Amino acid sequence: MTSTALITDDLTAGAPVHAPAGTGEWWRDAVIYQVYPRSFADGNGDGIGDLAGVTAKLDHLKALGVDAVWLSPFYRSPQKDAGYDVADYRDIDPLFGTLADFDEMLAGAHERGLRIIVDLVPNHSSDQHVWFQEALAAAPGSAARDRYMFRDGRGPGGDEPPNNWQSIFGGPAWTRLAPRDGDGPLGPQWYLHLFDSSQPDLNWENPEVREEFEAVLRFWLDRGVDGFRVDVAHGMIKAPGLPDWEGQVAMVEGTVEEPTSNPGAPEDGSTGAGNHGPMFDQDGVHEIYRAWHQVLAEYDGDRCLVAEAWVEPLSRLARYVRPDEMHQAFNFSFLTTPWDAARMRSVVDVSFSTMDAVGAPTTWVLSNHDVVRHVSRLGLAEVASGPLNGIGANDPQPDPELGLRRARAATLLMLGLPGSAYLYQGEELGLPDHTALPDDVRQDPAFFRTGGVEAGRDGCRVPLPWVGGAPGNGFGPTGKTWLPQPAVYAELAADQQYGVEGSTYEMYRTALQLRRTEKIGGGALSWVTSLVDSPDVVAFQAAGVVVLANLGDSPVPLPAGSEVLVASGELVTWAGAVAVPEDTTVWLRA
Ligand code: NOJ
Ligand code: CA
Repeated sequence: MTSTALITDDLTAGAPVHAPAGTGEWWRDAVIYQVYPRSFADGNGDGIGDLAGVTAKLDHLKALGVDAVWLSPFYRSPQKDAGYDVADYRDIDPLFGTLADFDEMLAGAHERGLRIIVDLVPNHSSDQHVWFQEALAAAPGSAARDRYMFRDGRGPGGDEPPNNWQSIFGGPAWTRLAPRDGDGPLGPQWYLHLFDSSQPDLNWENPEVREEFEAVLRFWLDRGVDGFRVDVAHGMIKAPGLPDWEGQVAMVEGTVEEPTSNPGAPEDGSTGAGNHGPMFDQDGVHEIYRAWHQVLAEYDGDRCLVAEAWVEPLSRLARYVRPDEMHQAFNFSFLTTPWDAARMRSVVDVSFSTMDAVGAPTTWVLSNHDVVRHVSRLGLAEVASGPLNGIGANDPQPDPELGLRRARAATLLMLGLPGSAYLYQGEELGLPDHTALPDDVRQDPAFFRTGGVEAGRDGCRVPLPWVGGAPGNGFGPTGKTWLPQPAVYAELAADQQYGVEGSTYEMYRTALQLRRTEKIGGGALSWVTSLVDSPDVVAFQAAGVVVLANLGDSPVPLPAGSEVLVASGELVTWAGAVAVPEDTTVWLRA
């Protein structure tokens, strides 16, 4: 992998491969910051982040320069899946505060010009939801049971689950009720849960379920939220008859493969990150989003719906953001693309062609609360982007320097792309995962349901460090943190990076500011012609900026007189010229 042969002093770009829709809605080019409430900032000192903590840190987000905040669930919940098990969709869990705390947080965000997106979890509720409790008390065939996916078992006495589906967190996707008086010859029924047994799947064929969720949307829209991130948006409708399926389900289908010697970038942008089978991506889901689109359209302010749908290829994902459905969908094909120039160009090309075809903005994302942070992922292997489902203490450990270097380069590459970008809390500090959490502090149901085969997602959910060296690195007033932080969080804490030239925080801030002033998000994209086949370099022009990422191991000299706007690492002198070293991205004035 040498890049020297391809060096050019001509960074001229070709014809645009993407032109913006130009309709001006805020979400088309927004940078959206994900707050994972339990790990962002603790206001009351119990070691768990809360809404008061979010309110207290709004200035951090404003100064960083993001446009909007998406909060993972804060609803009433027994917290069996960190709040993705909702017991009451219209109330705040006491762990996180009250509705008044929510209103204060929302008002504080709006005052600062930050929009707020909340998380909607419609595929399943908690087993503590009043509907599920009613269903348990009711008889088979009743209206209460019909809100969920109850079925009789197979085999003599109904002892076998209704089909062979597996839970995404491991183990069977069916749980049987306890026997009780009056059970028929097939015994107690079973209920479906694509995730934990405490997360029963709702029956979206039932009109009452649809009405209820439209009312929930209105509840939060009336309170003033700017949009919804829709959890498991590809899972709500199951294939008729719930047929057996021999395939494997996984939220993220495990590890991203290292490309072979000839990467052969897939033409449809696929990386293997899609979910398949009769429980996913059924045509019936789209009718639900068409109805929700209408609900949002009744409100002012361009409110939006964002699909969390692990489907591939990208042409399938584009179906969720057709003009009368949702507005955005997370681009997990980009997140799972290995650190390889040809594959990066390919996924960018296909992302634009598929989303442009339906008039939707492309999104970009590198980290979230379900995957190993990109600092840790990219620190693992030469080319691959590494495992997604967590790194355990006994697994090969990432190289922290390599990971941070590549992560910063990947971030500058991403933020140079037109469209909408998602950041995950703490990535602006260059945080790695905690990759050596002791098993006895783990909480992710995926760890328990796979018997520890998957480390699970706790490593990317560690409480943020705000004040280096303070108790709990300033996560809250008492120093308590619900998960231990790795030692390196002390030096990566926010206060250690504010105003420090070259810090990851300042790199993000500079890039976000330039993205805004140069109008990159709403601009066109063209590839730099001389580098379009480079095995090591990804180079494109977005608005008035040339973005050049060197993924290879030889320095790439820049044309004489290049004006460097921001760089992910220090530049070097090579062959008498200023050069971009390996795993480094620069933005240049076009
Ligand atoms: C996707 C969420 O992001 C994840 O955290 C959760 O466990 C599952 N959906 C189930 O709700
Ligand atoms: Ca708290």
